[in-house]
Amino acid sequence: MKILITGGAGFIGSNLCDHFLSKGHEVVCLDNLATGFENNIKHNYSDPKFNFIEGDIRNLATCQEAISGCDLVAHQAALGSVPRSIKDPATTNQVNIDGFLNMLIASRDAKVKRFVYAASSSTYGDSKKLPKVEEEIGKPLSPYAITKYVNELYADVFAKTYGMQCIGLRYFNVFGKRQDPNGAYAAVIPLWVSKLMNLKSPVINGDGNYSRDFTFIDNVIEANEKALFRSDEDILKGLREYYNLDLDEHKYLLQDKSSTIPAGRHDEKDKNDPPRRTKRGTLFADTYFFSEVFNIAYGGNTTLNNLFMALRNNLSKFEKNISSIEPEYGPFRVGDIPHSQASILKAQTILGYEPKFDAKTGFSMASEWYFNEFGMSSDE
Ligand SMILES: NC(=O)c1ccc[n+]([C@@H]2O[C@H](COP(=O)([O-])OP(=O)(O)OC[C@H]3O[C@@H](n4cnc5c(N)ncnc54)[C@H](O)[C@@H]3O)[C@@H](O)[C@H]2O)c1
Repeated sequence: MKILITGGAGFIGSNLCDHFLSKGHEVVCLDNLATGFENNIKHNYSDPKFNFIEGDIRNLATCQEAISGCDLVAHQAALGSVPRSIKDPATTNQVNIDGFLNMLIASRDAKVKRFVYAASSSTYGDSKKLPKVEEEIGKPLSPYAITKYVNELYADVFAKTYGMQCIGLRYFNVFGKRQDPNGAYAAVIPLWVSKLMNLKSPVINGDGNYSRDFTFIDNVIEANEKALFRSDEDILKGLREYYNLDLDEHKYLLQDKSSTIPAGRHDEKDKNDPPRRTKRGTLFADTYFFSEVFNIAYGGNTTLNNLFMALRNNLSKFEKNISSIEPEYGPFRVGDIPHSQASILKAQTILGYEPKFDAKTGFSMASEWYFNEFGMSSDE
């Protein structure tokens, strides 16, 4: 298969490039290097199955060029970071919504088999319900969260209107190899690792009792693999099973979403061959279409205090002076929700997703990678 990975020079995207190349697929990586790095992908330059296109998803022609001949899309390109979006909502909007729409249009026109995209746990917004289940979201708390929710809405409309298969993966606090420890918008784990390796105290916002469902990168790779390659029949089987678990709670979701004829797939030759309807997907000519989002996490909860201790313990194995560092405590950050923990039942039932790495194992593997990559001279 030939897979287009947008944002393929970034943290998650570059890990996906490596994975799908190792499985023998052809990979096209589209990235404008806004927050990604050639260093993350240049080891693949000599592989004839790898093609890097330096370009911007805000340009439709670029998206169309990159997608040409591809069977599948794993769309990761976006401007991440809540604080960045608060500082510059317009650019986040252009990349994350206009760019996303370009990728949907290009995918529709290229008739790719499936469009899998990076959604986000930020879509749960101010909802306090735990664990987070896909159908119950709150109000967005940042421009970034709005963009990620709009992506889901667009994907749903494109699936229904043009007959596409769209799968959104709501990642929860992903961490691991190649996550950038530098820059103003570094995520908490690489930021703290970088501090500790410089023998400095990380700052914990609040009292350290807030918790997150930290998700190791290898689980995210598995989720993308399943989302891209799970057979239509297995997905439809999972959908039926999942939505029948609790008929009352999911009643509205059982309605047939296929009231419109999907023009994109309805070629001339199909005119006398109407689609067969099912509850959650429509078999259209030779393909089903659907749009679903899934929590991608481990399903655990680690407090920030426990995260600090785990990173300190792991890095102390390489440099004993790290073991005596204590954190500093700062004010709570506006807009931070106290706890975030995912239900992964939907991804398990429909995608067959079974995350293999708990947070503790991931912290150990990520610490080792950071130490080997940056040693004690890592800059902040
Ligand atoms: N890391 C997480 O915890 C997390 C959580 C939820 C969702 N996500 C989503 O996962 C995806 C990947 O995130 P990441 O953590 O790897 O971030 P990242 O910043 O490392 O990767 C994003 C990549 O997109 C590229 N990019 C940005 N703007 C672009 C544009 N206009 N055109 C082409 N390429 C562009 C960047 O250069 C970068 O390589 C993003 O969509 C992000 O919103 C990440």
